Amino acid sequence: PSDAVSLVESHLREVPDFPAPGVLFRDITPLIADPQAFKVLIETIAERYRGQVDAVAGLESRGFILGAPLAIEMGVGMLTVRKGGRLPGPVVGVDYDLEYGSARMELQPFTVADGQRVLVIDDVLATGGTANAAFELIERAGGVPTRLCVLIELRELGGRERLAGREVDAVLTY
Ligand code: PRP
Ligand code: HPA
Repeated sequence: PSDAVSLVESHLREVPDFPAPGVLFRDITPLIADPQAFKVLIETIAERYRGQVDAVAGLESRGFILGAPLAIEMGVGMLTVRKGGRLPGPVVGVDYDLEYGSARMELQPFTVADGQRVLVIDDVLATGGTANAAFELIERAGGVPTRLCVLIELRELGGRERLAGREVDAVLTY
């Protein structure tokens, strides 16, 4: 685990004023562009959850980059929780509020087996709206979302509070 911490920390870019003034954006592209760092990170995360989950759900779109190799490494399937309107039906969908406006995430329920234990994965936990929607979608599809794993938790944005009652693992917290 401390392996993963230093890997993420040493390969992160912090970009001021992206995508809007006043936002400090945590960019994981240097991490996934480094073949050794990416491989070791995925192996470390897989080791932590091996045997405890039956599928991995990635949150569009950076969660896909992490989720797919993780699913392969753990020998389980990959589920895609996507932004509204991108998946052919049938889908289940959840609308949720953003600071300004709203967003929607969707999942194809036929990809989830009844009672399947699902690990939700993403790069960043911010307000928790996206992850919260994913938990709800997996449950509505008949699965059991066991935990959220993120590389980076932005503590002051309150994601953990929004996900009260859910298990949240963050490699790094700011
Ligand atoms: C970012 C990030 C998480 C989400 C976190 O994705 O990758 O999925 O926002 O925010 P929240 O906790 O407030 O919901 P983004 O919407 O930028 O999508 P992208 O990966 O497709 O760029
Ligand atoms: N990085 C990536 N995704 C995000 C961030 C960030 O800093 N904040 C909210 N979503």
